[in-house]
Amino acid sequence: MGSMRLFLLLAFNALMLLEAHGFTDKTDTQALLEFKSQVSEDKRVFLSSWNHSFPLCSWEGVKCGRKHKRVTSLDLRGMQLGGVISPSIGNLSFLIYLDLSNNSFGGTIPQEVGDLFRLEYLYMGINYLGGGIPTTLSNCSRLLDLDLFSNPLGRGVPSELGSLANLVSLNFRENNLQGKLPASLGNLTSLIRASFGGNNMEGEIPDDVARLSQMMILELSFNQFSGVFPPAIYNMSSLENLYMAFNHFSGRLRPGFGILLPNLQELNMGGNFFTGSIPTTLSNISTLQKVGLNDNNLTGSIPTFEKVPNLQWLLLRRNSLGSYSFGDLDFISSLTNCTQLEKLGLGGNRLGGDFPISITNLSAELTDLLLEYNHISGRIPQDIGNLLGLQTLGLRENMLSGPLPTSLGNLFGLGVLDLSSNKLSGVIPSTIGNLTRLQKLRLSNNIFEGTIPPSLSNCSELLHLEIGYNKLNGTIPKEIMQLSHLLTLSMPSNSISGTLPNDVGRLQNLVLLSVSDNKLSGELSQTLGNCLSMEEIYLQGNSFDGIIPNIKGLVGVKRDDMSNNNLSGISLRWLRKRKKNQKTNNSAASTLEIFHEKISYGDLRNATDGFSASNMVGSGSFGTVFKALLPEENKIVAVKVLNMERRGAMKSFMAECESLKDIRHRNLVKLLTACASIDFQGNEFRALIYEFMPNGSLDMWLHPEEIEEIRRPSRTLTLRERLNIAVDVASVLDYLHVHCHEPIAHCDLKPSNVLLDDDLTAHVSDFGLARLLLKFDQESFFNQLSSAGVRGTIGYAAPEYGMGGQPSIHGDVYSFGVLVLEMFTGKRPTNELFEGSFTLHSYTRSALPERVLDIADKSILHSGLRVGFPVVECLKVILDVGLRCCEESPMNRLATSEAAKELISIRERFFKTRRTARR
Ligand SMILES: *[C@@H]1O[C@H](CO)[C@@H](O)[C@H](O)[C@H]1NC(C)=O
Ligand SMILES: *[C@@H]1O[C@H](CO)[C@@H](O)[C@H](O)[C@H]1NC(C)=O
Ligand SMILES: *[C@@H]1O[C@H](CO)[C@@H](O)[C@H](O)[C@H]1NC(C)=O
Ligand SMILES: *[C@@H]1O[C@H](CO)[C@@H](O)[C@H](O)[C@H]1NC(C)=O
Ligand SMILES: *[C@@H]1O[C@H](CO)[C@@H](O)[C@H](O)[C@H]1NC(C)=O
Ligand SMILES: *[C@@H]1O[C@H](CO)[C@@H](O)[C@H](O)[C@H]1NC(C)=O
Ligand SMILES: *[C@@H]1O[C@H](CO)[C@@H](O)[C@H](O)[C@H]1NC(C)=O
Repeated sequence: MGSMRLFLLLAFNALMLLEAHGFTDKTDTQALLEFKSQVSEDKRVFLSSWNHSFPLCSWEGVKCGRKHKRVTSLDLRGMQLGGVISPSIGNLSFLIYLDLSNNSFGGTIPQEVGDLFRLEYLYMGINYLGGGIPTTLSNCSRLLDLDLFSNPLGRGVPSELGSLANLVSLNFRENNLQGKLPASLGNLTSLIRASFGGNNMEGEIPDDVARLSQMMILELSFNQFSGVFPPAIYNMSSLENLYMAFNHFSGRLRPGFGILLPNLQELNMGGNFFTGSIPTTLSNISTLQKVGLNDNNLTGSIPTFEKVPNLQWLLLRRNSLGSYSFGDLDFISSLTNCTQLEKLGLGGNRLGGDFPISITNLSAELTDLLLEYNHISGRIPQDIGNLLGLQTLGLRENMLSGPLPTSLGNLFGLGVLDLSSNKLSGVIPSTIGNLTRLQKLRLSNNIFEGTIPPSLSNCSELLHLEIGYNKLNGTIPKEIMQLSHLLTLSMPSNSISGTLPNDVGRLQNLVLLSVSDNKLSGELSQTLGNCLSMEEIYLQGNSFDGIIPNIKGLVGVKRDDMSNNNLSGISLRWLRKRKKNQKTNNSAASTLEIFHEKISYGDLRNATDGFSASNMVGSGSFGTVFKALLPEENKIVAVKVLNMERRGAMKSFMAECESLKDIRHRNLVKLLTACASIDFQGNEFRALIYEFMPNGSLDMWLHPEEIEEIRRPSRTLTLRERLNIAVDVASVLDYLHVHCHEPIAHCDLKPSNVLLDDDLTAHVSDFGLARLLLKFDQESFFNQLSSAGVRGTIGYAAPEYGMGGQPSIHGDVYSFGVLVLEMFTGKRPTNELFEGSFTLHSYTRSALPERVLDIADKSILHSGLRVGFPVVECLKVILDVGLRCCEESPMNRLATSEAAKELISIRERFFKTRRTARR
């Protein structure tokens, strides 16, 4: 009997030994191979070391315990893995550390993760994980750090998580979580940081969380939480960063706010409904760095900040602070000790009194000084030029008077100067020309006199020049016409005399020109017809005479007024007819205005007949395009519904779109507006609304055989039309690469992104989208370049992209070269003919110069060439430009401007186009 027991004991021990060594590291091997089998096939290559001939503990991302050789750590972060997470992961029972973040896993988080009872660190952020947070996670009782950031996880936060008593850090940011914050979270007394930002959570914050006394960072922003400032938070005296912006919190803040939360560094409560005054105890918090209280309903006076030496941001815009009286701005002198102050935003309040001179003693670090929409009187201090770091100075809509200090010219970094709608007088100092970074200069609605300083031409980055409704006289300096980026040139209702400078046509990007109600005279320059981006022209109320210039090429003009002049000519009657047409076909509002109008998901759904297939006009890597009729504007537009899945991208989407609107060119598809909304299933919905291009994409025209008969173009493009399109595309690239403020690469140029309007003018689309995607979602950007699913893109992407090269203007030139070769040979770079080193490039090269007719698209030779046209010669030189653009090495490629110039000169040589006529 005794020996039997001994035997059993020995056997048991042997088993234990086995379990710790040979036998069950098989469990781990098995679990991981199972895991690998669920990773999408094309990405499994990253786990090639996970094979039987290689020891488990040396597999990529795997670490084992020193003694028992069981897997304790699995770190696969950022490995581009897709597919789903296998439930077998739950069998890695010795796992302490699990990091799958920054991959493309879809599906759900398997319940079996809850079996990992030794787990301390769990990271699954930045994936596509849906469903809910599994309640079984509550079994991982040793968890210290739980991070599920940026996934589409839905449902509520499980109350079971309240049992994770050791949890130090919790990150559920940017998911789709709903419901209330469970009271049980009050049990997580070890929590130091918790983030619920960017979800759809609601209700009041439960009092139970008052027990989280260790909390240092709490983020609740971008939800629908409501109620008064949560009383529980007043108990979190360790709190350093508190983010509650964009919720529905209301009520008053406690007077003791700053005493109760004495360690705050960053506080953002903007975009709520807080009322009452800012607690004066805020200034007892000597650690404060950033204070954001914009967009609330706060009243009363602004406290002083003497004892807050590290204050960087004080943002109080759009509240009801102040009493329209002297003293409202006295607190400013207390900011002079804040030597790191960067942003001071007080606009949109009730602040009165004189512009305080102490502002000139603020930190030289100050970049943004925003006092617009208040009742501030007095003069702008002489020494405003002390604020050397200033980038934005907004004083619009106040009661400021007196002259502009010449020291403004010291503010070399200034990008925005908005002084409109005050009572400022005197001359515009010529030192304004020292502000070479200026993009927006707004001085309208003041009583400025004297002349427009010619030195303005030094502000070479200027986009908006608005100086209307003043008492300016003298002439329009011809130097202004050197400001080639100008979008708005607006100087109505002054006493400006002389002529409209002859070379106004140099302002190729101008969208709005207003010189109405001045004393201008003489003939209007014919070059006005070169401002092809123009949408609004106001010349009325002057003494212009002679013939109305030929502006029939300005197809974008939506509003014009030339009345009350002495203009004559047949073209005037031409114009009227045109205007009438536009009333019926086009919206009256300019795109600049439309851009700010919100369009809802419901509007778009109605306008596209429920996104019906019959309204679908295309689909591409970024999303699906529908044709839509906007009933109110009576305008047909193209709606691109984006399939951007990253939540991080969503948040910044509108802001980024806003920045795209300043980038304009006649050969870019115009972005009219954007829609950021929630669809009827509650999913995030993003769409871009573009001008509709009735003639579809270049791709359709080049490969009509590939599309269904009903959408097929009725004829092929002629040689000349193709050349025009190539010139159009080259000019917009030249604009993006050379003439924007900073070179901008399109990153995804290909025939399906070149759209044709009703007269076959080419407009490049999807510009900016690549940029957006690249900015927020680098990984899917590159996946798209390399994914076999998007064969089209492959052939156009420069070889260096495949090797991890950054997108660049050289890459665009490559894509353009391929596009040219395709346009004139009719062959896609992805044609099955091409393989290995035999490419569209080598195919073309080998045929030049003798056999050019062998490779040329046959349909060119059959369409519209007059007898005796030197077709061989013409094709040779065009294809040669294409070849030089798509050289293998970026440095050997033609520069964009060279390519554009050469194509234009080919057009002039073979088709003798008149300089101004476009076709
Ligand atoms: C197994 O992984 C090792 C290490 O990465 C590798 O060298 C070997 O080629 C792999 N074997 C198989 C069959 O994939
Ligand atoms: C956590 O807190 C809730 C309510 O605050 C309580 O009912 C529960 O028993 C606590 N314990 C656990 C393990 O959730
Ligand atoms: C903000 O306060 C003003 C007056 O104090 C009031 O007229 C306005 O309705 C309030 N707005 C909100 C959103 O509470
Ligand atoms: C600024 O700080 C100094 C000492 O750091 C202090 O003496 C002075 O009173 C402070 N100024 C203001 C306006 O509080
Ligand atoms: C500033 O502008 C004035 C007038 O245009 C000019 O004389 C002066 O040299 C400029 N100063 C600098 C530093 O550029
Ligand atoms: C322009 O205005 C200034 C100041 O009002 C005045 O002195 C000057 O005579 C005016 N010049 C002309 C040409 O009207
Ligand atoms: C969409 O159309 C339906 C039916 O005509 C209408 O009831 C609804 O209000 C429309 N929705 C929007 C957002 O225009």
